[in-house]
Amino acid sequence: MAAGHMQMSNGSAVSGEYKKIVYWICTIAALGGLLFGLDQGFIANSLETIEKVYFLGVEGGEKYAAILATGGIIGALLSGIFARFLGRKRSLILAGFLFSSLSIVSATLPAIAVLSACRFGLGFAVGIASFIVPLYLSETAPASIRGSMGSLFQLMITIGIFLIAVTNVVIARIFLNPHVALPIMFLVIAAFSLIMFIGSFRLPESPRWLMLKGRKAQAREVLARVLCHDEDIDRELADIDNAIKSDKGAGVGIIFKGYFFKVLLMGVILQMFQQLVGINMMIYYAPTIFGYAGMKGLLAMLTVPTVNMLFTFPAIKLVEKWGRKKLLYVGAVVMMITMIAAGLAFASIGGISDPSQIGGLPKAVLLIAVIIYIFGFAVSWGPVAWIVCSEVFPLEGREVGMTITTIVNWSFAGLVMGNALSFMRDHGNASIFFVFAAFCVVSMLFLKFFVPETKGVTLEKLESDLKSGKALRDLGN
Ligand code: BGC
Repeated sequence: MAAGHMQMSNGSAVSGEYKKIVYWICTIAALGGLLFGLDQGFIANSLETIEKVYFLGVEGGEKYAAILATGGIIGALLSGIFARFLGRKRSLILAGFLFSSLSIVSATLPAIAVLSACRFGLGFAVGIASFIVPLYLSETAPASIRGSMGSLFQLMITIGIFLIAVTNVVIARIFLNPHVALPIMFLVIAAFSLIMFIGSFRLPESPRWLMLKGRKAQAREVLARVLCHDEDIDRELADIDNAIKSDKGAGVGIIFKGYFFKVLLMGVILQMFQQLVGINMMIYYAPTIFGYAGMKGLLAMLTVPTVNMLFTFPAIKLVEKWGRKKLLYVGAVVMMITMIAAGLAFASIGGISDPSQIGGLPKAVLLIAVIIYIFGFAVSWGPVAWIVCSEVFPLEGREVGMTITTIVNWSFAGLVMGNALSFMRDHGNASIFFVFAAFCVVSMLFLKFFVPETKGVTLEKLESDLKSGKALRDLGN
């Protein structure tokens, strides 16, 4: 990338001003990712405080935690409609509003029914954000940095998970009165939500959405803030126009078109595997799992969110350098090996019922395996599954495609969260690690035969390849 210039998806040079807009877009839109992480990571280290205020018991606490996923599924379900009718920008504003108002209401420590409704609503906002942010970024970012922006979204999720893990631990230790600590925990989320809410008013609308709505003059205005020359603007407009002309206004019915169904199935399976490799067992239950192996304290509480965040940074470069598919392969191999190692560590612990009797070796193997496993996910499947899903769908079906794939992601996340610990209890602690390792193996076969490399390919080229009947794995070649 030349200094002061970037390449638009059609190869046009763009002005330095674009950079400022791009960074603004990144900052505000990616705050959606941060809030995703803050809300998802909230429970792990706040449940004890919640318990002291609300006396929910184990089942009540679980219900309160899980209602986020239900809200997420419904938010994701409706977000395609919001994206299409409200536009990308106003949907982001809506998510920002929900994040802010609902975390402020939660901070007043209302009755449990209201608190739960707020968490459902936060999940709803997360569902919207997890759909709209990658979509918005993929439509507004130049092709050369599109992948990095998608990784930025993932990076913000992991920063959110990390930040809330740390702040909740610190808040609980400083403010011993839970009636003081809990509101402060919610207000941390509220503060970030307000920045997103207010900042998103200044975002430009996606030129692709404006064109989809036939608002060419406005699309031109946005592009004029981005590109130096009139001919570049015209070319970009023509590119978008060509892509949408054929099936403008396609609704859910697009699912039944062969070329779309094919790519939809690919996206669905990709998001399914993103969860079936077991990541959320680690994100939600690592402290519990470490506890089974006799490890407790800050190490057990903070290792996973820290490693997850740190290793998402290299992903931003790698996703453009190595490409999406190679990273997914590497991630699957690393996760398979480490899951097997963690499983063997638990198998060797076997029948020891007193965790304090567990030797140093299995503990060390488990800890190292978990660290490398999280590394493997963070540099690959974490960002790349979202990036690929934001890139592969033809424009007129992008909302439908991303809605369905996001719902699949949430549903399988719920499946893992809702069953991982009971599976370990019923089938032995080691068992679940081998199950996840097996899913890693199957995911590699799926990658080999069905997943295209989308690095550096314009969205328009992917679309025309898809419609011309090319095999999925050859799209963009
Ligand atoms: C996944 C989440 C997961 C997070 C961890 C995301 O890409 O979709 O389910 O909790 O990564 O960083």
